[in-house]
Amino acid sequence: MPAHQKVTAFRARKKSGPPIAALTAWDYPTARLLDEAGTDLILVGDSLGMVVLGFPDTTHVTIEHMIHHTAAVARGSKNALLVADFAINTYNSAEQAVANARTLVAAGAEAVKLEGGVRQAGKVRAIVDEGIEVMGHLGMLPQRVKEEGGYKKKGKSGEEISALLEGAQALQEAGCFGIVLESVVPEVAIQLTASIDIPTIGIGCGVGTCDGEIAVTSDVIGSYPWFVPPFATPRADVAGEISKAVQAYVAAPRNRSLPAD
Ligand code: KIV
Repeated sequence: MPAHQKVTAFRARKKSGPPIAALTAWDYPTARLLDEAGTDLILVGDSLGMVVLGFPDTTHVTIEHMIHHTAAVARGSKNALLVADFAINTYNSAEQAVANARTLVAAGAEAVKLEGGVRQAGKVRAIVDEGIEVMGHLGMLPQRVKEEGGYKKKGKSGEEISALLEGAQALQEAGCFGIVLESVVPEVAIQLTASIDIPTIGIGCGVGTCDGEIAVTSDVIGSYPWFVPPFATPRADVAGEISKAVQAYVAAPRNRSLPAD
């Protein structure tokens, strides 16, 4: 299905349901498994910085990383809408955002995602004018973790609520087809979702507060045991299974004797 049809179908889910189920992927096998399991939207998230590349946060991710992983995911994804994150500092101006959006699309993305509200509206409009679909990201913005001094819940003060609601309006008016809401107080996520016509997909905003949900796949399958966010619901223990399999593999030759000379 062409990208614009997938986006139209995604938008329609706001009214017709069912709620959207989105996940992240960074490699071919994961993308293929998610796609074959019926995931609506696959995000090549810059969370790859932590859970794949071993950096402390997403601020170390580059456009080259995103291109490399987007291409791998594109080879494994057919039916899901494939969205690629902009890396930090790769959309500082409208011109830079358009150029890098084109690069991500050339790598196989069907849409791009950027972080921020009102301040990003001009860039969203410029990318949309190029015929490229854009998703917004509001609430806790991982690319601003250093300025924020950590990962903090958003929507706790009147000022934060206004910024979230104004940001959502601005992104919608600029042409975004959907918005990721990260770590927003549940009541505010509900209010924001009701205030716009495009779908919101929530992470860390409570269950049933948005038009759908998005999760970091390693949190769902239990493949990154060293940090699991408090809101995550692991549904498998892939790390445990890998450890068991590798311990059995390592033990097998140690229990044999060397071949005779
Ligand atoms: O990079 C990512 O994985 C994300 C999710 C938190 C939605 O943006």
